[in-house]
Amino acid sequence: MTEAPDYPFAPPAPLTPPAEWAELRQQCPVARVTLPSGDRATLLTRYDDVRLALTDPRLSREGLAGADAARITASTDSIFASPMASALNDEGHERWRRMLGKWFTAKRMQALRPRIEATADRLVDAMLEHGKPADLVTRLAFPLPVFVICDMLGVPEGDRDLFKRWSDTFLNLTRYTREEMAAAQRDFAAYMTGLIDEKRDLVAAGGTETDEEDLLTLLLRGADSEGRPMSEAGLVATGQALLLAGHETTAGFIGMMFAHLLSDRRRWERLLEDRTLIRTAVEEVIRFDPNGSGFGMLRYVHEDVDLPGGPVRAGDTVVCSMASANRDENAWAGADDMDLARTPNAHLAFGAGPHSCLGQPLARTELQAVLDVLLRRLPTLDLAVEASELRRVDGLLTTPLVELPVTW
Ligand code: HEM
Repeated sequence: MTEAPDYPFAPPAPLTPPAEWAELRQQCPVARVTLPSGDRATLLTRYDDVRLALTDPRLSREGLAGADAARITASTDSIFASPMASALNDEGHERWRRMLGKWFTAKRMQALRPRIEATADRLVDAMLEHGKPADLVTRLAFPLPVFVICDMLGVPEGDRDLFKRWSDTFLNLTRYTREEMAAAQRDFAAYMTGLIDEKRDLVAAGGTETDEEDLLTLLLRGADSEGRPMSEAGLVATGQALLLAGHETTAGFIGMMFAHLLSDRRRWERLLEDRTLIRTAVEEVIRFDPNGSGFGMLRYVHEDVDLPGGPVRAGDTVVCSMASANRDENAWAGADDMDLARTPNAHLAFGAGPHSCLGQPLARTELQAVLDVLLRRLPTLDLAVEASELRRVDGLLTTPLVELPVTW
């Protein structure tokens, strides 16, 4: 391998990890790489190193805003950069996390599940009406998580398509002009402000907290431990953060989940025979998939740290490849086998440490619900093309499938 190879690496096939991951884990777990911007960074590929880098306070996400931090591309704003990041930082990250975390309880997820299943059922109805073959990405994987986020924010059903369009605009760094992006930001902020005002009036009118309560209402009702409510800018930014963090990621994993399960039909058939495996199967697909957590998470190194795989130096930017860590042969028995009953399964696809995914209970619930619905409604589901013909979006941060043609 060259001195600082270009990163990310190209996978040999859409559902297969790049060969470089295993090579680096064995020979050079703390490796210099060149990012698309031309900046150098340090790539971590082993489980122990990735986990430590994500949790050790000597490395941080905040440091990435500094001038000496490596950039992914010359113009990349991370998902958590941009106007919303500053609003969220004003709220104070830990405080913001604590306030939001109150919504993602197991009870609330349980209460949401029938609604998610009903939405998935309606999307399947529309797919059946359209006829086979159908693209599972546009029919199901893309709309479902936006609709769930709308439910979570308490957006009326009639306005969901607006959110689908906004999300598409925010996530497509290349398809829209700067003016179109700015217009979408403005429209989104105006819509959210109106929604927040309506909910503020409802909260002022009274009513008690329930498990069906939407997140904005909870945030408006609740104050932090010092009695301060979340600011209006913080609420708008939170709505956008959730749309950005929770849409493409979950949509990508829904598509990939069916691709992995159908590319070897024995997996699908095992689930048809034993639905009790759904929970562990979802977790295993998330571990196994080389695409969903995509590029990996960046962290800035504030002081020299000796990781188990080697040292990283103050001023370095590290790229934590969670997807490679999830296939580390030293951390997992049969790392390259998909074991639908694997337990425990402490994969790193949702990150770890102070920024670990707040929405993971919701993502899990969505994936379990949609798998349950498709096993029930379409037991004969199959890929309509060879798995080798599937194409991934040529994005950088996540690389979901362009389409997933299926038949039944
Ligand atoms: C399978 C789907 C998902 C995956 C793989 C995923 C993955 C991740 C990862 C890796 C991070 C850590 C970022 C970092 O360390 O810098 C993260 C953060 C976050 N995720 Fe998710 N996520 C998913 C779904 C969701 C959903 C559905 C929501 C909510 C609607 C959500 C909300 C968030 C938020 C708010 C953060 C920021 C947490 C913080 O900075 O403290 N995610 N996610």
